Amino acid sequence: MLVLGIETSCDDTGVALFDSDRGILAEALHSQVAMHTRYGGVVPELASRDHLARLSPMIVRCMAAAQRALHDLDAVAWTQGPGLAGALLVGASLGSSLALSLGIKGLGIHHLEGHLLSPLLDDHPPAFPFVALLCSGGHTQLMLVQQLGSYELLGDTLDDAAGEAFDKSAKMMGLGYPGGPAIAALAQQGNPTRYPLPRPMLRSGDLDFSFSGLKTAVRTKLASLGVRADDEESIQALSHVQRADVAASLQAAICEVLVSKSMAAMEKTDQQRLVIAGGVSANHELRRQLKLACERRGFQLHFPALKLCTDNGAMIALAAAMRLERGEGLQGEELARVGANVRPRWPLHGLK
Ligand code: KG4
Ligand code: ZN
Repeated sequence: MLVLGIETSCDDTGVALFDSDRGILAEALHSQVAMHTRYGGVVPELASRDHLARLSPMIVRCMAAAQRALHDLDAVAWTQGPGLAGALLVGASLGSSLALSLGIKGLGIHHLEGHLLSPLLDDHPPAFPFVALLCSGGHTQLMLVQQLGSYELLGDTLDDAAGEAFDKSAKMMGLGYPGGPAIAALAQQGNPTRYPLPRPMLRSGDLDFSFSGLKTAVRTKLASLGVRADDEESIQALSHVQRADVAASLQAAICEVLVSKSMAAMEKTDQQRLVIAGGVSANHELRRQLKLACERRGFQLHFPALKLCTDNGAMIALAAAMRLERGEGLQGEELARVGANVRPRWPLHGLK
């Protein structure tokens, strides 16, 4: 089965051509980071317009790279939600129109399901069931995944996601957006024990998270070092070593909580396989610590290839191929009627 996957939920335009027998045949990705960076975050209207301008040429390029024609496609899939409404609409309108014009199936996919299943694109994919730590920009969740469409929410963040703690702290430190990669790079040169920061909810006894206090703790620490809130220039008062130490201390606090809760989830559910996915799973320190913790307990750990951690079209095409095999997908009149409907807010555990 040949599926075209389209991802436009936020600030990455992703396209991939996926063959259920042969894997990813071609992929294209455009990050809008450079365009949004001077605003300090994603500007939704600019994001939608950019997706619109880039999507069609990227699809044409992908088809050409795989030496396939549009009429070879069996289905088109797009991200239906959650995400920015306007950005989602671009992928859903183009994807459903393309499927309609070709007379094939079209399918809207849950963005987080795409992330969750992305480790299945690996040469050594995990078998079901597994526990998944989903760590994207807006979500930090632990899920028990029994099979496709069976997602039991074990724990969730009560406020900010881990990605937000990275992003908001990076902004305070004048590191721009997105903050995760910038903090991770700076942390490599820092001392993670220099500024002890809180480990929120570490001993709460449940599997929930809370990261907004951590962001406040970073703000307080920076203030005690002479940095004024919302005055990005005052960060210059800190030495490079101090900045690196704050970054390393923040990363250490986030990693410790994520690792500890993931291990607790494995034990509570009596599972053997842990999967991490979403943008934050690109973090090397988190991968290293999770690997150690899993090895110590005899658990298997699976994570997506680095390029598949953040948003991409391949994870959408894969999730779609799996759902199409179950007989899902819209066609004809129904596709025309509801294909372009998007769901900016859409909890994963409601999915079937
Ligand atoms: O999954 P994703 O690409 O987009 C969403 O669906 O939200 O995740 C983006 C998030 C951002 O918060 C970004 O700062 C974070 O992933 N991120 C990282 C790293 N790379 C991306 N966080 C920590 N370390 C990284 N290396
Ligand atoms: Zn994502």
